[in-house]
Amino acid sequence: MKTQRVLTGITTSGTPHLGNYVGAIRPTVRASRLAEVESFYFLADYHALIKVGEPARVQRSTLEIAATWLACGLDPEKVTFYRQSDIPEIPELTWLLTCVTGKGILNRAHAYKASVDKNNAAGEDPDAGVTAGLFMYPVLMAADIVMFNAHKVPVGRDQIQHIEMARDMASSFNHLYGEHFTLPEAVTEDHVALLPGLDGRKMSKSYDNTIPLFVPREQLRKLIMGIVTDSRAPGEAKSTEGSALFQLYQAFASAEETTALAQAFADGIAWGDAKQTLFERIDREIAPMREVYDQLIQDPARIEKTLKAGADKARAIATPFTARLREAVGLRRLDSVVSATAAKAAKSAAPAFKQYRESDGLFYFKLVDAGGQLLLQSTGFASGKEAAGAIARLQQQGSQALEGLQSQLTVQADPAVLAQALAHFSARDE
Ligand code: TRP
Repeated sequence: MKTQRVLTGITTSGTPHLGNYVGAIRPTVRASRLAEVESFYFLADYHALIKVGEPARVQRSTLEIAATWLACGLDPEKVTFYRQSDIPEIPELTWLLTCVTGKGILNRAHAYKASVDKNNAAGEDPDAGVTAGLFMYPVLMAADIVMFNAHKVPVGRDQIQHIEMARDMASSFNHLYGEHFTLPEAVTEDHVALLPGLDGRKMSKSYDNTIPLFVPREQLRKLIMGIVTDSRAPGEAKSTEGSALFQLYQAFASAEETTALAQAFADGIAWGDAKQTLFERIDREIAPMREVYDQLIQDPARIEKTLKAGADKARAIATPFTARLREAVGLRRLDSVVSATAAKAAKSAAPAFKQYRESDGLFYFKLVDAGGQLLLQSTGFASGKEAAGAIARLQQQGSQALEGLQSQLTVQADPAVLAQALAHFSARDE
């Protein structure tokens, strides 16, 4: 079996938080260490342009996300780690896919539909404030995936539809132009619990309740102290059910540690102490990575170099593959067309012997010129072999063979024309 190719992209539109770490970064880095996979991870900065209109933020986020993945143990020697915008073949492939994608399919994309529904509800024009970038987002994403013929694409559940659309586009393209693309499959982690944020709702930038992954230690402590809890006093038993604090702890702790904290809850641990326990547990895992992160952030040139090396690896695949796709769709060099037509013209310009059998059971041949004009017509031969022998003599000896075959030829064109046509065969053998 061929090595499985795993690919995923991270939109560079924010600062990584604990939810990203637990839900995506940590499991992905672990999976990337498996020997039997070939992994592609990239910073989806073209995608970021759809949501972020601030150039400095796109750049900052790209730096932070790259540093985060490296600090969390992604090994750029083992995986292909690159920045989407370093691969100009991606937007090129986006166009090729755009041309095989039904507009109606894109109309049904969740993100686009949500915007339209919102506009409709507000009595606005359905496309008010919707950029063509948002509309085309799934095509760009499909190009990311099929460029490297990824088999598996680990994503959040909200992205499954995009992977299905990528499959559709890949199979439309294959249908039209031949089998070029692997059909990708989404991989979602069912057991990854969504991490709660400071207010207990899902940790998300849009709720402004995140805990950034790499804030300084003291700031991490302050943030954790701000997690919402109920008003139970120290000594009162506390419920683990629905406790954001407990769920956060669980995402970092071993089974034994989790059981121990559950016991402490039942025993009435004070919220302040529980928060301190949580802080220490998270910091134990994060601290060594934070150190690497801080060093990396101080040295953007080093990250830039790493990403460029990744882009070289990615383009070693993307460049020749794109050349093949261009050829497949007909974006071809013109001189190759000229020589192909010339070869075809030369072939059809040549005179040709045609051998055939008539209903009288005899074997005949004729010689026609480039335009199909009859130059020679034989009488019937008893066998195909004899007819072929006569042809061979004409081809080898040219006009000189005509006299000897006189009795078996019924039509003869102008001697000069005939001589020239026959010369074609002997010339070819030289
Ligand atoms: N759209 C993805 C997200 O927001 C990011 C992304 C871009 C991606 N291109 C991709 C994910 C290709 C997987 C494969 O999460």
